[in-house]
Amino acid sequence: MAESIKRVSFVGMGFVGLTTAAFFSSRGIPVTGIDTDVDKLQKIKTGIIPFYEADLEPLIKRTTQNNLLKLVSDYEPAVIDSDMTMIAVGTPSNEQGQINLKYIKAAAQSIGQALKQKEEWHLVVVKSTVVPGTARNVVGKVIVKESGKKLGRDFGLCTNPEFLREGSALQDSMTPDRVVIGEYNEQSGRTLENFYNTIYSGNVKIIRQNLETAEMVKYTANSFLALKISFANEIANICERIPGVDVMEVMKGVVSDFRINSNFFRAGLGFGGSCFPKDVAALLNFANEKGHNTVLLDGTLQVNSYQPLHAIDILEKTLKDFNNKKIAILGLAFKKNTSDMRESPSIKLIKGLHEKGAMNIFVCDPKAEKEAKEIFQNTISYGTVEQCLSQASACIIATDWSEFAEIPPEQFQSLMIEPRLLLDGRRIYDSQSFNGHVLYKGIGIGNSNDP
Ligand code: UDX
Repeated sequence: MAESIKRVSFVGMGFVGLTTAAFFSSRGIPVTGIDTDVDKLQKIKTGIIPFYEADLEPLIKRTTQNNLLKLVSDYEPAVIDSDMTMIAVGTPSNEQGQINLKYIKAAAQSIGQALKQKEEWHLVVVKSTVVPGTARNVVGKVIVKESGKKLGRDFGLCTNPEFLREGSALQDSMTPDRVVIGEYNEQSGRTLENFYNTIYSGNVKIIRQNLETAEMVKYTANSFLALKISFANEIANICERIPGVDVMEVMKGVVSDFRINSNFFRAGLGFGGSCFPKDVAALLNFANEKGHNTVLLDGTLQVNSYQPLHAIDILEKTLKDFNNKKIAILGLAFKKNTSDMRESPSIKLIKGLHEKGAMNIFVCDPKAEKEAKEIFQNTISYGTVEQCLSQASACIIATDWSEFAEIPPEQFQSLMIEPRLLLDGRRIYDSQSFNGHVLYKGIGIGNSNDP
């Protein structure tokens, strides 16, 4: 009966799987990462990771070189030779926004087939974001069917939602606010708790719950953070109608209340990424299927879809039309410090501008240009900040990269042409220092010329 986890296997070397596997191996735990994409594994082994995440590349190089992190495509030996298997495969949405469990089912099948060959007790942990009931009714049942083993007696089952953010994934792994463990039974939960206490030398808050509660925690946390952002954006859009009012100043007054935390209240073009849009949609669909009408979750997504269109409205009011006018977009990634463009507001922004007839769009992003080329090919132009701003009538800041925050107002002024509209879609500039140099507008700033 394995009460202590000495070796770990991971199914799915995507963002969460690879980062967490690398982190565990950096703590001296032998980890085997399994992925069916042999080409991807080969690249990772030579130090090429499929996305940009600071600090991850050197860590993976180190841990693969010293053999603590192994990457394989074959399930059986990897699962059998480990004490715990973590499932970190993707849970994409289908067209209606419902969660698609095909990779989860495939992973559970393969784990079950491997466990059939294993004598000792094994712990299976679902790290992927899944709707409540999935670990018990899908993963547990599939493994029982494939392995012929008894859940609880022959193998344990936990859910362990992941809260790390892209762009700060390793830092988040090293210092999590909490570790949430959903457990099928006491033994499963205790074994995983002991493992994390070893990883963090006891310096971590661990919350143990039943499987479905932990699954719900992840959706609730992400939906609430998304709701906070949409709430800030709704307030911002109201503030824009009140001359002299800036949502940032309003929020300063609001977050001084001890009941209101200031994080994730930054207004702008809205949220993107691989989690918030997908997770809110999945919870919303899950609730609707259960017969609950989700007013706030619907509103969260509605406000978010509107924000890039709102930015286009602001441009249109000043420029009147987009004929032959050059538009610069600084930022493509859904946030700074990542190359990820999944659900990035910049996509809606560019598509919306195209629909309005803006055909001279220049974009720049420190890391996401390759990703953008896959989406837009040559329908937009790619360049440096200078090339983007040169002769541009308007510029939108779409990602909060520090490189853009350092551009002085004089540079916009000298490179751009009338009316030199700078729309700060991420509120990275001090509006005062830009006035007089460009026609500065920020999401959430009430302007006396606007209705
Ligand atoms: C998120 C959760 O934060 C993380 O806990 C979970 O594990 C995965 O989903 P991530 O998608 O990496 O992480 O990015 P996050 O930093 O949360 O930002 C999400 C989006 O919200 C970005 O597009 C960001 O620009 C936007 N955002 C964030 C705002 O518009 N305003 C804010 O105040 C904060």
